[in-house]
Amino acid sequence: MFTISKKLFTIIPGILIFAGAGFMTIANLKSEVEVQSSQTIDLPAHVKKGTVSVEEAIAARRSERSFKDKSLTLQHISQLLWSAQGITSSEGRRAAPSAGALYPLDLYLVAGNVDGLDPGVYKYIPRDHQLVRTQTGDKRSELTNAALRQQWVDDAPAIIIFSAVYERTTGKYGQRGVKYVHMEVGYAGQNLFLQAEALGLGTVVVGAFNDNEVRKVLSLNKNENPLTVMPVGFER
Ligand SMILES: Cc1cc2nc3c(=O)[nH]c(=O)nc-3n(C[C@H](O)[C@H](O)[C@H](O)COP(=O)(O)O)c2cc1C
Repeated sequence: MFTISKKLFTIIPGILIFAGAGFMTIANLKSEVEVQSSQTIDLPAHVKKGTVSVEEAIAARRSERSFKDKSLTLQHISQLLWSAQGITSSEGRRAAPSAGALYPLDLYLVAGNVDGLDPGVYKYIPRDHQLVRTQTGDKRSELTNAALRQQWVDDAPAIIIFSAVYERTTGKYGQRGVKYVHMEVGYAGQNLFLQAEALGLGTVVVGAFNDNEVRKVLSLNKNENPLTVMPVGFER
């Protein structure tokens, strides 16, 4: 993967961003451009105080595979996405640690039954705490098929998918960067898991899926690699 050239800098002004140790890559830039042409939803502000302690959330955490047919709210979505990749410092650092602060992870939301959100696929933009719709329509059944027909994916009102662009990290760390990206999805996923518990919701880490099929369902670019699928909802 290569970095932005000076020429591109002049062709596409205004959307070049310093990302930690380096410029954004061409791939990032492309997804930024695509994102800007779609519908954008401002998420409600997240809160920093809840009613469940970290210790209680750790003790209560259990994989949940049985969900009520009950909608989530945009406030739930705001809180869940923030806990995994939200901005937590004025320098743009995020809720989960990232090697070199290079942030290889992107979060996608497959919304099926969320108050105030049309069914569709959305990308989380941490910088603005926004969702950008990338596809319309309820994609839960297609995603379930891509996840080896695990029924809990279809039953959940929403599913959060962690995807990674390895080049953001391997550009600096070489092959070792792949290890770092896999560590990072664990840190971010556990944040989301504990946040779900603290909100009275349930989730499960789904790692058994067909990468290419998930890529197709979400219309991901070739360099975007789905790593974890987390259906979220109220426990039945
Ligand atoms: C990397 C990874 C992949 C997993 N993949 C799946 C999966 O595809 N489907 C599923 O139902 N559970 C999956 N799980 C959840 C485990 O089955 C679960 O964590 C384990 O049974 C322990 O239960 P607990 O999470 O309730 O403590 C996965 C867990 C991890 C860490």
